[in-house]
Amino acid sequence: MSGVAVDVRGLTKSFGPANIWSDVTLTLPPGEVSVLLGPSGTGKSVFLKSLIGLLKPERGSIVIHDTDLLKCSESRLYEIRKLFGVLFQDGALFGSMNLYDNIAFPLREHTRKPETEIRDIVAEKMEMVGLTGDEGKLPGEISGGMRKRAGLARALVLDPEIILFDEPDSGLDPVRTAYLNQLIIDLNAQTDSTFLIVTHDINTAQTVPDNIGLLFRKHLAMFGPREQLLTSEEPVVAQFLNGRRQGPIGMSEEKDTAQAQREMAEAGELDGLPPLKSQLAASPGMPERKAVGRRRERVLSMLPEFAPSARRAIQESYGLVGAGAPAGHVPSGPADAATETFPRVGRHDW
Ligand SMILES: Nc1ncnc2c1ncn2[C@@H]1O[C@H](COP(=O)(O)OP(=O)(O)O)[C@@H](O)[C@H]1O
Ligand SMILES: [Mg+2]
Repeated sequence: MSGVAVDVRGLTKSFGPANIWSDVTLTLPPGEVSVLLGPSGTGKSVFLKSLIGLLKPERGSIVIHDTDLLKCSESRLYEIRKLFGVLFQDGALFGSMNLYDNIAFPLREHTRKPETEIRDIVAEKMEMVGLTGDEGKLPGEISGGMRKRAGLARALVLDPEIILFDEPDSGLDPVRTAYLNQLIIDLNAQTDSTFLIVTHDINTAQTVPDNIGLLFRKHLAMFGPREQLLTSEEPVVAQFLNGRRQGPIGMSEEKDTAQAQREMAEAGELDGLPPLKSQLAASPGMPERKAVGRRRERVLSMLPEFAPSARRAIQESYGLVGAGAPAGHVPSGPADAATETFPRVGRHDW
């Protein structure tokens, strides 16, 4: 299996008179990891559900393998849906089934594979997420982290070309989140599938994805390579990615513009942006992420389109400028960034 591009153009979704977002345009590059951010209620889950055809946007297109999901037949949509693996927020496991049966479920439902083959596939996916030996456990008997990993194993059994994660880190403590993030990168290295992750976790957004998008005020405020968003001084982007209090986003809802401007004025000059954190790399012993080389070509060919700060960050991340560039800008091993400040717990203990 390997990833496929997901090409979204001018997508607009409303429920009755309530518009959720309009004119969303982005391309998920094949095999790359992208993160979608946005305040609660901005329609991130609605976006994921639109991608898999569970919700129907009224305008625009979603093109996968030359098929527009908004225009194709029901039977073609059914085929396209099988390309997706989805990890829902709580793992969405059947409470009365053990992990083995939960993970085998899509294979029994969507394929005619014999039980011997199903056993091999389930064992392989359970090993990938570190659940070997837990086949007989019920979802109610295991930790939240294990439930998410079981949901992930189930999302993997049909060898999806595209994997969607809806807030995979919600409800996990920072240590488990760091492990989950490493697992996501390692799975990407093993599958080369296209990943889209909805998250609220700033550290995840800073260290996991190749690309970042931000939904805000019913629009996609920005979507691009991580270096572009992480160096952006655009107020809403800088606020979201750096956890600043000052900016257009308020505590519970999006602030009104006047209040935001007042606060910005009171705060005076904001601190400069912190240096870019390095992106997580696959663990030792994992294959290299195939997306890394493809992304390098892609992003370097786009260089002239970026603001100077983003351009420099991209060149630094590929070691193309600045002998004195901070070491943190060079992609490095998994031991740093998200994991280094956390106490060691066994890879399979969470
Ligand atoms: N099936 C639905 N029918 C009507 N409104 C919906 C439906 N699903 C979601 N919404 C509304 O769409 C908005 C965005 O929801 P959601 O995508 O869950 O936000 P997020 O995931 O960004 O927190 C919310 O106001 C929600 O009430
Ligand atoms: Mg949601």
